[in-house]
Amino acid sequence: MKIPDIKILDEKDKRLHQVSKEVTFPLSEETKKLIDDVLTYLELSQDEEISEKYDIRPGMGLSFCQMGIMDRIFVVSEELEDGSFKRHIVINPEIISHSEELIYVGEGEGCLSVNRPVEGIVPRYARCTFKAYDVDGNEYQIRVREDISIAYQHELDHLNGILFVDKIDPKNPYKNKNKMREI
Ligand code: NI
Repeated sequence: MKIPDIKILDEKDKRLHQVSKEVTFPLSEETKKLIDDVLTYLELSQDEEISEKYDIRPGMGLSFCQMGIMDRIFVVSEELEDGSFKRHIVINPEIISHSEELIYVGEGEGCLSVNRPVEGIVPRYARCTFKAYDVDGNEYQIRVREDISIAYQHELDHLNGILFVDKIDPKNPYKNKNKMREI
């Protein structure tokens, strides 16, 4: 088995704090291959044995800026109940509507670019509808909820140069906790 060689930038890199650019179509073959490779990487990383053996952190989402490519592209790898993966490829995304309800990850969010423990929680919409484009440049809409909704919002923040740690007030890391639902 070959794990795609994906180099992920650390939070100190300035590119993680910059706004990524709208993508134009058609995508290059190189970009399509990279999308495919990143999804394979994320799928393998979610296998406990593989992540331990090859010392890679498990992750469910990645934005292109985390590899130093400033294109508005992210992917999310969703593990389904039968153990297979749904591949989300999200290009030039926009939130077009969202729930009032807010949720947060109880144990805190993680990010493949943040290699340190972080205390605190981030408010996220429980449900969102996104508009985006697929690899062929076709516009689509998707309704996401719960952990996938959080993943999409976390990745959209990356495209705007924002890390989840930027959204946590170190003086009050659990701010408004009682106004949100833990997942
Ligand atoms: Ni991240």
